[in-house]
Amino acid sequence: MMFRAAFHCCIATILAQHIQATQVPLGYSHSDWRPPAVADHGLADWNMGDLPNPNATSHLVFETVNSLLQRWPNTRMRNGHSVVPGTIPKGTLLYHGTYQNELPPGPDWAATDPEHSIVFCKGELEDGCWHLTLATTRPLKVVYFDGSSAAKVEYGSMDAQDLIAWGTSQPWWVFEERQRIRDLCKWGQDYGVDAFVRMEVDFELMLCNFTSGVSMVSFSNLASVRPPRHRQSLLDPWMAQASVITVEAMYAGSWHYHFPGEIRVQLDLAGLVSFYDTQLVPSLVPIRIGQERWDHRVQNTSSEDILAVKARLAAALTRPSGLSSGIDWMTLVRVIVDRYAGRLELMQYLLSTPATDLETALDLARKTQVQLRIMLTPYILYSAVPSTEIELDWAVPVFKLCATTHTSFIQFDSPSMTPSEQLILQAIQDTTREICRVVTKMWASGVHTGLDEHLNPKELPDVGEVTNLMNAWRDDVNPLMAWLDWNVWVKCKPACGPEEMCYLPTWPMGFPSPDRGRKKRRPGDADSGSGTSTSAHEDLRTLAMKSTAATPVEGWSDMKPGPDDWIRPQPKCIRRVEPYEF
Ligand SMILES: *[C@@H]1O[C@H](CO)[C@@H](O)[C@H](O)[C@H]1NC(C)=O
Ligand SMILES: *[C@@H]1O[C@H](CO)[C@@H](O)[C@H](O)[C@H]1NC(C)=O
Ligand SMILES: *[C@@H]1O[C@H](CO)[C@@H](O)[C@H](O)[C@H]1NC(C)=O
Repeated sequence: MMFRAAFHCCIATILAQHIQATQVPLGYSHSDWRPPAVADHGLADWNMGDLPNPNATSHLVFETVNSLLQRWPNTRMRNGHSVVPGTIPKGTLLYHGTYQNELPPGPDWAATDPEHSIVFCKGELEDGCWHLTLATTRPLKVVYFDGSSAAKVEYGSMDAQDLIAWGTSQPWWVFEERQRIRDLCKWGQDYGVDAFVRMEVDFELMLCNFTSGVSMVSFSNLASVRPPRHRQSLLDPWMAQASVITVEAMYAGSWHYHFPGEIRVQLDLAGLVSFYDTQLVPSLVPIRIGQERWDHRVQNTSSEDILAVKARLAAALTRPSGLSSGIDWMTLVRVIVDRYAGRLELMQYLLSTPATDLETALDLARKTQVQLRIMLTPYILYSAVPSTEIELDWAVPVFKLCATTHTSFIQFDSPSMTPSEQLILQAIQDTTREICRVVTKMWASGVHTGLDEHLNPKELPDVGEVTNLMNAWRDDVNPLMAWLDWNVWVKCKPACGPEEMCYLPTWPMGFPSPDRGRKKRRPGDADSGSGTSTSAHEDLRTLAMKSTAATPVEGWSDMKPGPDDWIRPQPKCIRRVEPYEF
């Protein structure tokens, strides 16, 4: 809750600051700030008052790249904005639960963890159920949709794939899974795509052909996964199964919560296509104005931009291997997150700790200054010393070195980069620039106040100045962290107990079944078509999904998330063993 409150306040702060910034560059001290002299070598563009353009999305590209194939951030921000080609290596096991020992004749679903496919292992208690294990016989060519791309909710999680498959997305199409998989596979055929990777409680594949690139390892008649009869009498049959089985599927999903996430899928970031790319998808820029990140969705992308996205994706899927820079973008992004995430978090903690007396306040301020100096140590030049009491110009070379250190060398490779790589490069440049701008400004302000042990230290800094500084620091670090919005900062506090797991409300647990108008047009129907009932096309998998979404689980009465939890999920501890209480 605290995080959200901070988020709200900070968006307002950022906007307010931006409005101000159009008039007066914002420095530590508003009245005395002046831009650095142009004579400084190449420093004219390094104004510590320049805030990021509110339309810019570099921080969002950065954080979505940082989140790829990880369940935690993609459950938190359900509406995917990235489509990324990749491969699944030879020898990888895939799983499929069913009610008969026949291979699916056409496209169908496969899970990466058996805990997930077991949910669909069906049959009467006395007959058992059927569970297929496949192994890949060659690298499978896949396309990954990020976000909760298999969560059948109406808030935008399926938009990106529907725009690829159908050129539009409609809320009453969320359960049109058969049509979706057929049309996606049909689209992918031209590019040799074997499967699409999506995520809900765990990762799954829409596998286009069960006899191409995969071979059967076993097709087993397993003992029923239904609970024994004496327990069934108490519960609706499907839900009785759902309770333990789906919690375990969710638990398997938690193995892929954080980096490196679902490692059986290997992405080609040089082919990443992002709806946050403002050059590729300019139509979404005005739609996002004033929206919080949770509310971003790609539904209303213009048809022109959808064509551009599909063309970019086609180019990525047909690009001969080797035609990219060779830079490991994911590693570079992680290196930056590693260097700053924990320290920014520690500073935020220090600055939010109540200081009841002056000694405590001074202690907290000094500790914060130490963290600021540590972050900047590789960039604090010997020549960077305060020239006057107030201006921060002297620290601009530190800001610039900090902001460019990770990209100044590789940017010379720009001509060999794909458009996707140039997008990621820009995202890294802009994100590090803002981190370094704020951190350098904070550090230099601490130097002016006499808090830095190594530069201009004061035996006893002025108490009023220190208090003002800490307030200013808070107004620096909180908006920065809200702007970055890194998922590593979202966790259960306090940590969960041994019988618990940290959890974000996850479809389908407790979600309402969407209102599907039976008379409404189905994807692919002619515009004038009268519309068909969807039930004729429903398969077992869809029915199972709907059932879980619609029916509350006994003993889980408290877990029904409200609309806010569907769109703005917050972390909480849930039990991993019965009784499942929320
Ligand atoms: C699936 O792949 C097999 C082997 O490559 C091929 O013979 C078959 O025609 C494919 N099925 C479909 C529906 O494309
Ligand atoms: C943001 O985008 C809107 C709509 O495209 C545009 O009118 C506005 O000028 C942009 N703002 C800035 C600061 O670039
Ligand atoms: C998309 O367009 C529809 C119809 O014009 C509108 O109702 C909806 O609010 C728009 N969605 C977004 C996210 O702007």
